[in-house]
Amino acid sequence: MKGIVLAGGAGTRLHPLTRALSKQLLPVYDKPMIYYPLSVLMLAGIREILVITTPWDRMSFERLLESGENLGIEISFAEQPQPNGLAEAFIIGRDFVGSDSVCLVLGDNIFYGAGLSLLLRQAREELDGAVLFACQVQDPERYGVVEMTPDGSVLGIEEKPQRPKSPFAVTGLYFYDNRVLDIAAGLRPSARGELEITDVNNTYLREGHAKVKLLGRGYAWLDTGTHQSLLDASQFVATLQRRQGTYVACLEEIAYRMGFIDRAGLERTVAAHGKSEYAAYLRTVLAEE
Ligand code: G1P
Repeated sequence: MKGIVLAGGAGTRLHPLTRALSKQLLPVYDKPMIYYPLSVLMLAGIREILVITTPWDRMSFERLLESGENLGIEISFAEQPQPNGLAEAFIIGRDFVGSDSVCLVLGDNIFYGAGLSLLLRQAREELDGAVLFACQVQDPERYGVVEMTPDGSVLGIEEKPQRPKSPFAVTGLYFYDNRVLDIAAGLRPSARGELEITDVNNTYLREGHAKVKLLGRGYAWLDTGTHQSLLDASQFVATLQRRQGTYVACLEEIAYRMGFIDRAGLERTVAAHGKSEYAAYLRTVLAEE
């Protein structure tokens, strides 16, 4: 399975913060935002990852992530010049995905929960079409919203409905079989002029090939779309890390624990992080055994 992190978009809702810096590079407490979705792909065991950025931000992402070798993964980069919609990721990433299945994660989505690794592994194993995740939120009108029957089967998804039919928003984490490439290629722009991921998902749902998994109370799906929610996300990460002494989305730690890099590899990256608290944390990981 391949992975795509979509980190394009103009980020206008966070102006002026995002006038000179990509939204997905903004700090969420002590790490650039993209670390969080990237960590999700790594926890799913995905090691070939395409990062899609705007043309002008590409160099910054390349500087940050390089080839992925330090993390024992392969990162490549592609550009989305216009914000033409999330589903364009599968047009831009067509050659990269090839004949494989693919997991798309949005570069501004943060997931946290003890059962996450298991959930991701299950999604990969069960994949027969599409696996989506939904989460209860207070402001579903800002998202793709799941419409369900009383017994919990999913009828469809509405993109940013004025009158949401449920409080369950579709999160920015999607697993698809290879057919997503053709489905995306056949889409037409919506009324807002975008190739909608919701149209992709509804195609799978109509054909009975989509599963929607609910992220229950044990999970956090954090928003970074407003200044307040961005601050909330930072405080959430800071609180957890301070209280527990374990990091959220520490990519080198994940790479090490997943067996993508060995001890020597981790030691090399510790040195590269200088005198930061991040390096000090990685030293505690090394000291564990
Ligand atoms: C996009 C999707 C929406 C989904 C959301 C998750 O919204 O269109 O269906 O619920 O991501 O973050 P956007 O970020 O484009 O507003």
